[in-house]
Amino acid sequence: MRYTPRTQALRSALAASIALTVIGAAHAAPPAGRLLAAQCAQCHDLDGNGRGFEELAGESASEIYHELVEMKNRTRIESIMDRQARGYTDAQMRALAAYLASLPGGGD
Ligand code: HEC
Repeated sequence: MRYTPRTQALRSALAASIALTVIGAAHAAPPAGRLLAAQCAQCHDLDGNGRGFEELAGESASEIYHELVEMKNRTRIESIMDRQARGYTDAQMRALAAYLASLPGGGD
């Protein structure tokens, strides 16, 4: 390939756009628990404050985690939440619990 001023300009533009993409991705990445908690928002709301369903914000991470484990392990499905909990791995339930516990709220 011959290096003309045009190829050099294209290379610099490409390098700059790659750098911007990398920087952009680093800034855009939300915490893992927040991404997972988007699935819970339809019933528990984006801020974890329930609005008709159980309020999660303000509960401790260990409380939320243990509730999820309990619901996941039920041999007989008793509620909609038992089905929800089944879809998550242990690491995901910990990430969810840590994120939801970080939200401000009274707990209940
Ligand atoms: C389709 C509605 C729905 C979705 C989606 C949902 N939940 Fe629930 N959740 C409920 C209901 C209803 C309850 C009340 C207890 C029950 O019926 O099992 C509940 C209860 C809970 C409880 C127990 C709260 C307490 O104090 O007893 C936790 C923890 C919980 N949900 C976490 C989550 C998490 C984390 C997600 C997302 C992964 C989620 N829920 C998604 C409906 C939902």
